Amino acid sequence: MAISAAAAAAAALSFPRALPSPLQPRRHRHRRRSAEPPACAHSERGVTFDPGSAFYRSDSAAGRDLAVLAATLHRRAAGPSAPFLCLDAMCGCGVRALRYLAQVGADFVWANDASEALRPVIVGNLSRFERAPDRRWAVSHLDATRLLSERYLRREYFDVIDVDSFGGDAAYIRAALLALRIGGLLYLTSTDWRSARGYGSRRWCCTGSCYSGISHYSIDPDSITVVGPLWTGPLHDTTFLTEMLSLATEWGWANTIENGVSLEKLLDTMIEESDSRLPPGYIRLDEIASRAKVNSPPLGTLINSLRKEGYAACRSHIGANAIKTNCPIECCLDVAQEIRNLR
Ligand SMILES: C[S@@+](CC[C@H](N)C(=O)[O-])C[C@H]1O[C@@H](n2cnc3c(N)ncnc32)[C@H](O)[C@@H]1O
Repeated sequence: MAISAAAAAAAALSFPRALPSPLQPRRHRHRRRSAEPPACAHSERGVTFDPGSAFYRSDSAAGRDLAVLAATLHRRAAGPSAPFLCLDAMCGCGVRALRYLAQVGADFVWANDASEALRPVIVGNLSRFERAPDRRWAVSHLDATRLLSERYLRREYFDVIDVDSFGGDAAYIRAALLALRIGGLLYLTSTDWRSARGYGSRRWCCTGSCYSGISHYSIDPDSITVVGPLWTGPLHDTTFLTEMLSLATEWGWANTIENGVSLEKLLDTMIEESDSRLPPGYIRLDEIASRAKVNSPPLGTLINSLRKEGYAACRSHIGANAIKTNCPIECCLDVAQEIRNLR
């Protein structure tokens, strides 16, 4: 990072009083904190950290991988002219903040979690990456909306804002967009994303700024459920996802299976889901089978048959037992029966 650019940015930024302005060139080196590996070490793509007492799910690691890939592409596109600033609004133990520092190469990361009790674990984790003089971070314990609104009021804008909440993120979107640099990347995930999809189960989802929509719900013809707001356009940006896959391949992340997830498979599925002919929502295979009164057809066979009939069809990255298709449900039942030789 060019010192002059950092100093210019620092003039426009103010940070928690207890901390020096993080983008200011440092006259005195801070006392280094221990670089000892944590007592209870977890590792994600080679970055070790201690989850401590924070809420941490190892099976959400793929979501964090995608965040790192997207932020890295965004950083590359932004170029080196200005410091690259990330804000992790609900950081838990700080694993994302850590990965933005270590893997994205962010110039500054703001790690926030409402729980002050997590401070030692967050600081402990981030301290291990304080070695390079141009890598800086701050930790705070504010409500996410307050933090984001304050950044906006102080005209402190971030290139990446990450909000990983329990339940829906909808309440934070407005404040996050206000604190986001124009053209920045907003990454929303939800541990229990009931509100993001309207209702449902525990999964994660990602929403890049204009890259992906909140459009995952199961089509159940028997029940009318009010959901929304609902993005009805293409689910993802194919070009961006293809670049994420190339980067994952470049870094050797694509083919390794971590926590049961292959990034290559996941991103390939998401690329297929980007077909603009596909409507929002997905259909569960067991729903088709029970309505067609047949055993569940093999997923791949059903997709191929639907494609042969001229429909768009693909797997859903949300459920292993679901498809996305523009084929009307009645035709899906016919196709399922044909596969089982009942027609
Ligand atoms: C799903 S966990 C975060 C997990 C973490 N991002 C990760 O990847 O491991 C949500 C975190 O948000 C914090 N939290 C809950 N409500 C908050 C709020 N309104 N503002 C800031 N943090 C909040 C909780 O203390 C919790 O640590």
